[in-house]
Amino acid sequence: MSIIAKLNIKLMRTFTIFSWTRKIALKIITSKKGLELKSIDNSDINYNAQKILKEIEENGFSSLVNISHERLKKILDYTNTIDFLSVDNNIPFKINYDNPIKPEKSLWYGNSDILRCKEINELVHDSTNLEIATKYLGKTPIIKDVRIWWSFPQENKEYNHLYGFHYDIDSYKFLKQFIYLTDVDEKSGPHVIISNTHKKKNFFEKYNRRLTDKQVEQRYNKDRINIMTAKAGEGFFEDTFAYHKGTLPEKPRLILQIEYSI
Ligand SMILES: [Fe+2]
Repeated sequence: MSIIAKLNIKLMRTFTIFSWTRKIALKIITSKKGLELKSIDNSDINYNAQKILKEIEENGFSSLVNISHERLKKILDYTNTIDFLSVDNNIPFKINYDNPIKPEKSLWYGNSDILRCKEINELVHDSTNLEIATKYLGKTPIIKDVRIWWSFPQENKEYNHLYGFHYDIDSYKFLKQFIYLTDVDEKSGPHVIISNTHKKKNFFEKYNRRLTDKQVEQRYNKDRINIMTAKAGEGFFEDTFAYHKGTLPEKPRLILQIEYSI
């Protein structure tokens, strides 16, 4: 990582500690140049931008949204054609959606320019998604990251920070859309979010970006801990400045993540 990138992360961490310093940063910072956003109307995307926006603002995440079966099928066909890399960048590996045999490592990222998949590219540029991202971020967004990844069960059930509660500081403000590409029940590594931890953070939260399950149980009422189970093709929006985690799965899980940022 370059010195400038490291310095940028330090600055973001400093400015996001307090909500008032974050507000100042948001006023000063203009969106970086990113991929040109060309709004696309997709007939299968019919969730309500206003409703979703309100939910994210209030809770830090939205209710479930979905893409069509046709779009899901095309994305899945695409994932069968690309290479996946493990977190430590091992040899590229093909993972077949219909029969996902567990490779040696448990976490595998799609190693490709994901936007080459037309159905993903259309979703990233979807007019409703762009409306939600623009209004939530308060500025014209950039596409910060688009990725898919497979999570597989692992023998070692000890605490692994890859599956522990944390909040992200990817930018001064950012918004993610997650779409499950496999059915996700409680045993398939559902994403878990703690409601309403995206806006203000108390002293403890400011200085503890990572929390163990035990700390979460002790600090938050059960009704604030949301386990996001859903069918393949369903997903949600989330400001991952809120505490969240991906649960260690007992069954393989494939997910798409689109990240908008200022
Ligand atoms: Fe995260």
